[in-house]
Amino acid sequence: MRLDKLLANSGFGSRKDVKKLVKARAVTVNGEVAKQVKDHVDPSNDEVLVHGERVEYKEFIYLMMNKPDGVISATEDLRDETVVDLLEPEDIAREPFPVGRLDKDTVGLLLLTNDGQLAHQLLSPKKHVPKTYEVHLKYPLGDQDIKRLEEGVVILDDYHTKPAKVEVDANEEEDTRIRLTITEGKYHQVKLMAQAVGNEVIFLKRLSMGAVSLDEDLAPGEYRELTDEELDSLMNRE
Ligand code: URA
Repeated sequence: MRLDKLLANSGFGSRKDVKKLVKARAVTVNGEVAKQVKDHVDPSNDEVLVHGERVEYKEFIYLMMNKPDGVISATEDLRDETVVDLLEPEDIAREPFPVGRLDKDTVGLLLLTNDGQLAHQLLSPKKHVPKTYEVHLKYPLGDQDIKRLEEGVVILDDYHTKPAKVEVDANEEEDTRIRLTITEGKYHQVKLMAQAVGNEVIFLKRLSMGAVSLDEDLAPGEYRELTDEELDSLMNRE
């Protein structure tokens, strides 16, 4: 791998930034001052130091974003702003992509990574990764509707949704605010489930995916790297 790629991927800024570091003779490879950013290094065997500090190469990047309203969950779009447009250039350089899709008007937890294997695992219908949403509905939800949502409803003509969990917000006078946990992710699933019981979603926010919950300190559009604990829980490595 080129030295500039290794350094940029390890959090030392853009390719331009790391070029400056190399020019300033701040980078050594196996004890020798690096001369050119295009030199090749082996991240697992070469010892690369920046200002005397060892560079820990991270192969993948794992981010959680509080997706804002009006932004598309894609890497690029001709018309609309995408979640990747909201990232810093050094993170975009790692080529992360959203793990699954939230609708343009859905907000909340969105994971982004360049680790295709993890993304695949989290999205695989076989893994049943639970996803919890805060859902505001147009009409109050009756006991019968809750039962139907929990047992499964028919969406997309003939698809029976898997068992789900409904928690009604106890602070509300009317049962229009719920938490819905589903273990699958059909396109527009929550909205379609609400429609199947004659209701309508007016606000949708994803709160968690597997064991990872949205960090409420993140304002809409903000993001951060996953902690090691969060990553371990997603990878079932606890
Ligand atoms: N279900 C939906 O209808 N929309 C989303 O964005 C996510 C789940």
